[in-house]
Amino acid sequence: MTNKIVSWYKVNKRNLPWRLSRDPYKIWVSEIILQQTQIKNGINYYNKFLKLFPDVKKLANSSEENVLKAWQGLGYYNRAINMLHTAKKIAFDLDGNFPDKYSELLKLKGIGDYTASAISSICYNEKKAVVDGNVYRVISRYFDVEESIDTAKGKNKIKKIATSILPKDKVGDYNQALMDFGALQCTKYNPKCLECPLANKCVAKEKNTVHVRPVKSKIKVSKIRYFNYFHIKNNCYFIVQKRKSNDVWKKLYEFPLIESKKSLKFEELVKNSFFKNFKVLDFKKKFVLVHKLSHQQLKIFFWELYVEKIPSDFKKITFNQFKKYPFPKPFEIYLEYLDKIN
Ligand code: ADE
Ligand code: SF4
Repeated sequence: MTNKIVSWYKVNKRNLPWRLSRDPYKIWVSEIILQQTQIKNGINYYNKFLKLFPDVKKLANSSEENVLKAWQGLGYYNRAINMLHTAKKIAFDLDGNFPDKYSELLKLKGIGDYTASAISSICYNEKKAVVDGNVYRVISRYFDVEESIDTAKGKNKIKKIATSILPKDKVGDYNQALMDFGALQCTKYNPKCLECPLANKCVAKEKNTVHVRPVKSKIKVSKIRYFNYFHIKNNCYFIVQKRKSNDVWKKLYEFPLIESKKSLKFEELVKNSFFKNFKVLDFKKKFVLVHKLSHQQLKIFFWELYVEKIPSDFKKITFNQFKKYPFPKPFEIYLEYLDKIN
């Protein structure tokens, strides 16, 4: 299998910007971004991120807010915060030198088995298997693994197989080859089994189980939450607050918010103690969207409000600042909408 993957890669390798480099900083950035999004979108974020923070020192010296802004739209904002933390560690405590061993990389905040395996194999040729969603799929099919990959047992099994088939050298290239193979050849819905170099030994193909591999047993429960955001009209200012609690979007900015257990009319919302200190002159339900996260769905209502006086406990920012502060993705969408209708 291994040799065939390597030969396949020579012909089918994708041109990705971080493949021009073995700089651990760049590989680190690319791998963290790719845990959040698909390759196509990831390339844009990668280029933008490297332009803003070209090396680990530049990143280490940046503000949390600027890093979150660069991360805006990717989700899991803790990853960005952990990256800043780790950049400081490398720049200030390790003299700017990236650790060059899997075991050392693993000690850094935000670097787990996946990222440590990727960096150590790609940059230092360490014999570590990188197992992402693509690799789970290829291996579970080729070896017809029946264990579900959302259990520790199933994960360990795949990791063990992946480790056992690593080549003697060019481990980093091989790891990336396997990921590309999963992304382009052995795809989730329409794997190209008829023109596959692994077909004659692929157990799932022989047993006709390709479309039920990998096995996943857990059903995702999705909780629905209702967010009512108030866009309080005040000349050219936006009234905002920073999210502080340990919830989605911690440390990002937002409009004043009332969360409710169901979709509410404004007449019901206005009874909330939030409205105690000011008088609403007019309101309009301006925009509604659904934002899907891994374990919850947010139904988001943007209300436009005209009020008599602005509550003083909120922060006021200008439109230009709005563009510099980190906001959750739905705010980007809302602003685009406002732009379009104006
Ligand atoms: N997905 C995540 N990292 C990747 C890489 N280095 N090559 C291909 N696909 C990937
Ligand atoms: Fe994947 Fe089909 Fe090739 Fe098996 S034969 S490795 S299932 S593409």
